[in-house]
Amino acid sequence: MAVEQVKLVLIGVGNIGRRFLELLARKEDILRTRYGLELVLVGAGDTSGAALAVERLDPLQVIHLKRKGQGVAAYPLVGRPGMGTVELIQHAQADVLLEASPTNLRDGQPGLGCIEEALQRGMHVVTVNKGPLVLAYSRLAKLAAEKGVRLAFSGAVAGGLPTINIGRRDLAGSEILRLEGILNLTTNYILTQMAEGDKSYAGALAEAQAEGHAEADPSLDVEGWDAANKLVILAQSVLGHSASLGDVEVEGITGIGPEDLKQATARGKVIKLIAKAEREDGGYHLSVQPTWLDLCHPLARLRAHQMGIVYYTDTNGTITAIIDEEDPMPTAAAMLRDLINVYCNP
Ligand SMILES: NC(=O)c1ccc[n+]([C@@H]2O[C@H](COP(=O)([O-])OP(=O)(O)OC[C@H]3O[C@@H](n4cnc5c(N)ncnc54)[C@H](OP(=O)(O)O)[C@@H]3O)[C@@H](O)[C@H]2O)c1
Repeated sequence: MAVEQVKLVLIGVGNIGRRFLELLARKEDILRTRYGLELVLVGAGDTSGAALAVERLDPLQVIHLKRKGQGVAAYPLVGRPGMGTVELIQHAQADVLLEASPTNLRDGQPGLGCIEEALQRGMHVVTVNKGPLVLAYSRLAKLAAEKGVRLAFSGAVAGGLPTINIGRRDLAGSEILRLEGILNLTTNYILTQMAEGDKSYAGALAEAQAEGHAEADPSLDVEGWDAANKLVILAQSVLGHSASLGDVEVEGITGIGPEDLKQATARGKVIKLIAKAEREDGGYHLSVQPTWLDLCHPLARLRAHQMGIVYYTDTNGTITAIIDEEDPMPTAAAMLRDLINVYCNP
């Protein structure tokens, strides 16, 4: 099989970026033999600056630097302390931008500027960052179409769970009447531990933080905004429904106590934080709310480390997907899946 060389620049070398680099090394043979791809890292950026190579960077060397607590700018000979992310994209001779910087819902930066620069330059973009998608999805999608390149983001909505791919690819030709999702791991972990482990809200949250599922500041998760962000991305990219965060009715789980969960159990139900889009007046009504589910509901039995989505359609039936996501690897693998699809399923 002929092998195509694809040059990559990676912004953000944290939980996800580092695991993606691990995958580049681990999957090198499969990429070559099964997909005819040689993925070559030529640039990487973090808060220290950049590493920028003409030929290639060694992904394992970048991981090694990060594990030692250093930035990519410390990469021998080709480290560029203080080089900005956009400057890196301008100088890297790359085919694809991989974007894994933190989600910023105020102005989308640094991810938004990076994605715009890359698309303008005719590079494909793979991102897991919700900020730019929530704030500027239609503008970015239009720019990608104008430039004839792909904007892929299947890992941005519930990590490895194929929420976007099922909706956009597998439901082609059908009308989505409703979708329901458990799209936030932290809140599902907390509610499940409270219901099954007899924990208090504070105890379950502390456990989620200790296991690395919740941020030190978990407010975006527990107040429902992380799930709302994901719902907005689904609405725009899958349902074709133009929406912003202000269009979502949002209620988090901070008001749910052990008593509520006991009452639900006594009535043969469970409480889950459900993100929902329901067909209404030619558009969709969007909400994120703690919801009492019958035990026969496909999302009712999701365990602490699981997320899931149900699509209710007119002609393709009802489709449920569930993922066990105990660490960030499936999200990094979603970046690789997107990258493969850009080249192998144009
Ligand atoms: N973690 C998950 O399970 C998960 C799942 C789905 C989606 N996501 C999304 O994936 C993205 C990355 O998440 P993560 O957990 O990998 O985050 P993280 O561990 O905090 O890593 C963020 C990376 O971005 C770099 N960075 C931060 N600000 C920057 C700036 N201004 N310029 C250049 N680089 C900058 C950081 O640099 P330093 O290393 O120098 O600090 C770090 O390497 C986020 O948008 C997140 O919402 C995460």
